[in-house]
Amino acid sequence: MIDASKLYYNRYGKYSDLDLSQVDISPLLKSILSRSSVRKFSKKPVTKETLTLLLASAQSAPSKSNLQQYSILVIQDTSIKTEISNLIGNTKWALTAPVFLLFLADIRRNIKISNDRGYKHKNNNVDTFMNGVIDAALSMQSMIISSEAMGLGVCPISMIRNIIQEVKFICNLPKGVFPIAGLAVGWPDQKAPVSLRLPQDIVTHFDTYKEDNLDQKINEYDERVFKIAPILKEKQRHVDLYGVAQKGTWSENISRQLSVPERENFKKWLKGHGINLE
Ligand SMILES: Cc1cc2nc3c(=O)[nH]c(=O)nc-3n(C[C@H](O)[C@H](O)[C@H](O)COP(=O)(O)O)c2cc1C
Repeated sequence: MIDASKLYYNRYGKYSDLDLSQVDISPLLKSILSRSSVRKFSKKPVTKETLTLLLASAQSAPSKSNLQQYSILVIQDTSIKTEISNLIGNTKWALTAPVFLLFLADIRRNIKISNDRGYKHKNNNVDTFMNGVIDAALSMQSMIISSEAMGLGVCPISMIRNIIQEVKFICNLPKGVFPIAGLAVGWPDQKAPVSLRLPQDIVTHFDTYKEDNLDQKINEYDERVFKIAPILKEKQRHVDLYGVAQKGTWSENISRQLSVPERENFKKWLKGHGINLE
């Protein structure tokens, strides 16, 4: 039997107060609890049949009103891969994966379908934007879970949004269609460590939102991260601005990351690309 208490420990860096060791968990739940992003892939290909089923798993995700406001772009052409690889800086490795996909929020298709049927589409707004993003994200997550359950490794790639204008031209993305993230998929060539998550008593709230003892709980989490997997100099954000952190903790690192605006022009870009955010 799979020991769930150990999987819990690996995810949080501490044991649960409950005895989880006797809970009979499925191989799928084990795969989810012990997952980690993979950034190095073997050359072994992913067959067309496997990819077809993974795409079906992506499309099996729930979708707001079954509006299915997303698309998935499978980048196969090596010249397109190379073009993106040359633009994406130190995320080049992602394009070496045998499968590289873009998950696209897509409000275009339903505007066209409505117009073709003589209706005026009156929902190009921030709610539709959000629904499209959620649909695309859930389909990506479905593919992540199914890929990892069969032993594949994956890594989502938001760096793709740093070169969104270039990707728009390279991949011929029409107005109303934009990538929420890329996804590299392939057979792992590394054993990536499980990364520690915030404890449940920070992230989960019962009945009402509570922030009791947040500072103390964050400090405890930082200590666990620091003990098990300190954030090393090379992984620390904005060392050029702030120097090397004395203590490579999660809270220090995310604070540094969030102190510098990222993708400031995204809203403007979306508006110019047919997405109305009113
Ligand atoms: C939307 C999204 C975008 C991401 N973009 C990148 C990326 O551009 N480059 C990268 O190396 N990892 C990327 N990641 C992976 C995260 O860094 C990773 O999930 C996080 O550090 C936790 O590690 P784990 O997935 O191994 O648990 C992304 C993850 C998500 C969900």
